[in-house]
Amino acid sequence: GASGRLVVISNRVPLPAKDGNSSAGGLAVALEAALKQHGGLWFGWSGRTVDQVENAPQIIEAGKITFAVLDVHRKDFDLFYTGFANRALWPICHYRLDLLQVDRSQTEGYFRVNRTFAEALAPLLGPDDTIWIHDYHFIPLAAELRRLGCRNRIGFFLHIPWPPSDIASALPAYGRLQNGFTAYDLVGFHTKQDADNFRQCLLRENLGFPVGDGEYQVGGHRFRIGAFPVGIDADAFAETARAAERNPTVRRMRESMEKRRLIIGVDRLDYSKGIKERIESYSCFIRSNPQFRNKVVYLQVTPKSRSDVPEYKRMQHQIAEQAGWANGNLGEVDWTPIRYINKTIGHMALAGLYRMARVGLVTPLRDGMNLVAKEFVAAQDENDPGVLILSRFAGAMHELDAALLVNPYDTETTAAAIARALEMPLEERRERWRTMMDRLRGNGIDDWCQGFLDVLTSGKSPVPPPQ
Ligand code: UDP
Ligand code: G6P
Repeated sequence: GASGRLVVISNRVPLPAKDGNSSAGGLAVALEAALKQHGGLWFGWSGRTVDQVENAPQIIEAGKITFAVLDVHRKDFDLFYTGFANRALWPICHYRLDLLQVDRSQTEGYFRVNRTFAEALAPLLGPDDTIWIHDYHFIPLAAELRRLGCRNRIGFFLHIPWPPSDIASALPAYGRLQNGFTAYDLVGFHTKQDADNFRQCLLRENLGFPVGDGEYQVGGHRFRIGAFPVGIDADAFAETARAAERNPTVRRMRESMEKRRLIIGVDRLDYSKGIKERIESYSCFIRSNPQFRNKVVYLQVTPKSRSDVPEYKRMQHQIAEQAGWANGNLGEVDWTPIRYINKTIGHMALAGLYRMARVGLVTPLRDGMNLVAKEFVAAQDENDPGVLILSRFAGAMHELDAALLVNPYDTETTAAAIARALEMPLEERRERWRTMMDRLRGNGIDDWCQGFLDVLTSGKSPVPPPQ
């Protein structure tokens, strides 16, 4: 209904920060941009774990957005977030059967926390509110809200990939999750590939059938499945990047570069990002192109992420060790080939660093979208743009196919792409950049938000995104 609010739910909520820094992570970045325009209620986790839980959420007003956030019991959080969400759902959705951890109490904890969130949210809802639930932490939330009598329109958007059914079906509680999905009115993904995989999963489980027009019927309920690739406000980001030339971090970086060229990577410390493979490829590039020794610097900005998850902890050690070995073996008294940094850098400084870079290395092994790829392009100087090297396994690849596309598992070819990027003539750089920038301008953050909400509230069929 026109009078209702937009109610957004996500686990990670970027509460008005003490230091004014926005959060690392595509979901928070995208949603914050969308809600700043739209306004509404944003419900989710407070960022705190406690030993004694309050049942009522804490309310924080900030401009057009009202935040309502809930503390979670420490033990439940371990099961729900550190456990099921990040040791079962995350690896499976990123095609990593080898990293799947199955644990009955974690599975139960996940469903229990979803119920708790539904119970805390239900009293805040009005009958005309449009509810939009985000990401893999809250797949069963709509089913729980329905159980409490909620009749509102409820949409779901998955910010990470959805794998083919042979992989997805290894998930613990696969059937329960599938049923959870069918409580929505609209289920959205970044790419057609993810949406197709998801449809295939439903069909394989004999859960209903497609009825045309992006609609799908399960029992007496019809819902839609669609692809809505998230975008960025490219012109605003470009403006930030121009302004960032004066940013102190950016200045310090420029001074330290001397005449060298910058290659940049920016990723949460996550095994899906292909950081290990990337350092391998960069090392291979240096070994096979000695003319670039001491002529380039590779800056890898890598904030630590999910450090309580053992797979992540292990990786922190592995990557640090690998970066150290590479510097030890390749470096000179006056040259550190890799600057490896475990720090979150704010959007302003980041924009300036992208702009300074000649090459952007975005080589995830699997990624739902990857906003860094889009930000890197938007930040470039149009007269002298840098080159994006992009994994064919990132969702962003469908829009940014004018990048140098690589298979990140293929060390030599990725190494060759780095050399090619550094040697690419200005004309070619400009042409590729213009093609990509046009695509970004055609799909801004408002298009994503409005596109999803139009389909959710009007029930019209999803327009397939360009692939
Ligand atoms: N980011 C940031 N500071 C950092 C690292 C990342 O602000 O130090 C931001 C980055 O600019 C991007 C988001 O975090 O907007 C990461 O989103 P992406 O889709 O690339 O990956 P995700 O972390 O969601 O897997
Ligand atoms: C990805 C996920 C988000 C998550 C973000 C940061 O973007 O899709 O749901 O918020 O990573 O991860 P974290 O576990 O710190 O929230």
